[in-house]
Amino acid sequence: MTAAKSKPTFVCEQCGAELSKWAGQCPECKQWNCVVEFSGGARRAPRRFSGFSGQSSAVVSKLSAPKAGEAPRIKTGTSELDRVLGGGLVRGSAILIGGEPGIGKSTILLQLAAALAGSTRCLYVSGEESIEQLGMRADRLGVTGEEVLCLAETHAETVLAQAEREKPGVLIVDSIQTLFSDSSQSAPGSISQVRESAGLLVQWGKRHGCAVVLVGHVTKDGSLAGPRILEHMVDVVLYFESDGSSRYRILRAVKNRHGAANELGMFAMTGTGLKEVRNPSAIFLSGHSTPAAGSVITAVREGTRPLLLEVQALVDPSNLGQPRRVALGLDGNRVSMILAVLHRKGGIGLGDHDVFINVVGGVRILETGADLAMMLALFSSFREKPLPARTVCFGELGLTGEVRPVPDGEQRIREAIGHGFRHVFLPASNRPRKAPSEIEVHTVESAADALDKIQALW
Ligand code: TYD
Ligand code: MG
Repeated sequence: MTAAKSKPTFVCEQCGAELSKWAGQCPECKQWNCVVEFSGGARRAPRRFSGFSGQSSAVVSKLSAPKAGEAPRIKTGTSELDRVLGGGLVRGSAILIGGEPGIGKSTILLQLAAALAGSTRCLYVSGEESIEQLGMRADRLGVTGEEVLCLAETHAETVLAQAEREKPGVLIVDSIQTLFSDSSQSAPGSISQVRESAGLLVQWGKRHGCAVVLVGHVTKDGSLAGPRILEHMVDVVLYFESDGSSRYRILRAVKNRHGAANELGMFAMTGTGLKEVRNPSAIFLSGHSTPAAGSVITAVREGTRPLLLEVQALVDPSNLGQPRRVALGLDGNRVSMILAVLHRKGGIGLGDHDVFINVVGGVRILETGADLAMMLALFSSFREKPLPARTVCFGELGLTGEVRPVPDGEQRIREAIGHGFRHVFLPASNRPRKAPSEIEVHTVESAADALDKIQALW
């Protein structure tokens, strides 16, 4: 066998980097003890992984539109799930759902399987739970067991054999880390097993026009366990986010070949499964009846929808040599940057203060539109004075202290009006062409200008 003579390859279990020799530390991701020999399938891999589409054709052809007659997307029956998917499950696509244990991955997928039961054949493969356990969950969700096709199996080839027989339109695999394939000798959960099994399933799905939904576990630091390659192999990557204590669950499209990235879907975990939240802005506003110092509402835009979120800051004189900087739901580097702008451009030095900043509801803000709100929340907490009631603000801060425009200003303003806000602080370039009558528009040019305008209202 030629494979035996060839040099073994090594691969990092964390980031999927391929190395020619073993190392204690991965040169790519700098993690320790994560480089393993990539046995089983290393030689064959180039051929089988020549294309995840499952098609290998020696003929060059022109782009073609989808065939008429069959809707390219399968509606999931939940508008929030459809939203993150970009309008429904695309036939033949592969979707990866990640999230911490117990956050609701199995729940949402069982609900999906049940919702599809009437229209699309759906096969739910569980490698973690027995059919009885699935039945108990189905009972709790008010789903009658007969509607959903289930299979408790961890052998990838058997799963595919059953799928060949049942011909599902949607194949759910919970979870990919429990699957193993004959083509790799390593233990289930190891990188080569995950890679092999996922590759087989994804290719099968593409060939048969079946949407394949894979559950992926996440590690403690929040990234998907196993190789990054899993994210490259699939069309859509969805992550469940939550702040642990709250019953709200946010499903974020981290990657979507068929829709907007960073689209958010909102759900609430109830006694009978996950229910969609139709008016997410309303739940994230903590509902202060009187305005509080350090609390500022911002309008962000994640995906295609504006969302009102509350940013809270607490600034406290520190007795530590190195004051604390804690940012939850926001990027710590961005907070440091804003503290520097506040100091140099606004004359407010917080170098000897502990700074805590948090987004209410466990949402993570990834866009820069919340910069102005962060700065004003810090300022408001520092001065112990709240912003005027019913005020919303958005805008990006630059290092020279300028307040920069953000996309879709009008949409954000409309969302604020819809929730009864009376004042909006925004970048000058985001001023709406026609001044709305419902809300007072305050434009700000720079960080110092914003602080002046707020102080003028106190
Ligand atoms: P689960 O879907 O099993 O999580 P995952 O597959 O992501 O690990 O979710 C389990 C949690 O959700 C568990 O803590 C119980 C809770 N839960 C409810 O609150 N209500 C329900 O109707 C169900 C089915 C679960
Ligand atoms: Mg589960």
